[in-house]
Amino acid sequence: MSAFVTLDGVRKQWSHTVAVGPLSLEIPRGEILVLLGPSGSGKTTVLRLLGGFEAPDAGRIELAGEDVTAVPPARRRCGMVFQHYALFPHLDVGENVAFGLKGRGTRNEGRVEAKVAEVLTLVGLEGFERRRVQELSGGQQQRVALARALAPEPQVLLLDEPLSNLDPSLRERTRRELRALIKRVGITTIFVTHEQEEAFALGDRVAVLQAGRLEQLAAADELYEHPASVFVATFVGRANVLRGKTAQALGAGPGQLVVVRPERLILADAGVPGVVRERRYTGAAAFYLVETEQGDRLEVLARPEAARVGDRVYLEAARVLTFPEERA
Ligand SMILES: Nc1ncnc2c1ncn2[C@@H]1O[C@H](COP(=O)(O)OP(=O)(O)OP(=O)(O)O)[C@@H](O)[C@H]1O
Ligand SMILES: [Mg+2]
Repeated sequence: MSAFVTLDGVRKQWSHTVAVGPLSLEIPRGEILVLLGPSGSGKTTVLRLLGGFEAPDAGRIELAGEDVTAVPPARRRCGMVFQHYALFPHLDVGENVAFGLKGRGTRNEGRVEAKVAEVLTLVGLEGFERRRVQELSGGQQQRVALARALAPEPQVLLLDEPLSNLDPSLRERTRRELRALIKRVGITTIFVTHEQEEAFALGDRVAVLQAGRLEQLAAADELYEHPASVFVATFVGRANVLRGKTAQALGAGPGQLVVVRPERLILADAGVPGVVRERRYTGAAAFYLVETEQGDRLEVLARPEAARVGDRVYLEAARVLTFPEERA
């Protein structure tokens, strides 16, 4: 894999916290890489380091084969949509989009107008130039922010939770549209989110960060089926983590803990006995909270009519992941 974006041993520390690193990543041209991690795990800091808005304390950053570690933001050719994609409320849509073109050598009025029209069409806002920002929906504002980032024809697109202001249904649709748009443009993209569902929907690969370090970098199904750590297993998707007797009954050896996903547990005729304490109906299925005799509580995904609260049931696991106890 020849990398288009490289982070090599990059480290960033604030007075007391190591926000990032050391972190090494290689991203091939045209890839959508998602940075996924909990709040405070260093996602925004990684993007700001890539964009040149922060300087690393150690390590090297390469874009398109060039060492840009000491290159200022304006010369890095990164388009960034910030976490709170502040549009300028006193400027109209066209002026907002043109903003990124000013100061980048594009002074010719006609060329600016043509470029603004082109990127607005690209994001599905053809003819919106003279609209006021406050008159737009959240999703439309998000697309203006994206158009503004794309207008200077960056070589890398950096997106920091750009969909977090949208309501769930709009968010899901915008996700699909955004992925299609990025693939159409073919631009190498780093997308930050703290939501697993969003990471899976958007990314070619997903990098899971915890406390500024890379826990695992893989395609979605690989992360879900073969998590490298208990942290990844529990952060990416739902998971039951078990120790001791119940873990051993489900197939773990001594000193191991078991991670089992709700959909891999089966309400069976024999196995680990327990009682259904709660049932959460989701329509297509239901989550059952089953308490074992040891007092472990396991979440099981099954058919909505599979059991009722108070039923005695037996659990079998179709697939478990085991981890050494001391690494958890
Ligand atoms: N300018 C700053 N000064 C001091 N500490 C900072 C600064 N910026 C970030 N940090 C700290 O660095 C760590 C990583 O912050 P960062 O903003 O990168 O996290 P994040 O993963 O983007 O979180 P969120 O999901 O909440 O946006 C945090 O502990 C944060 O408090
Ligand atoms: Mg952030």
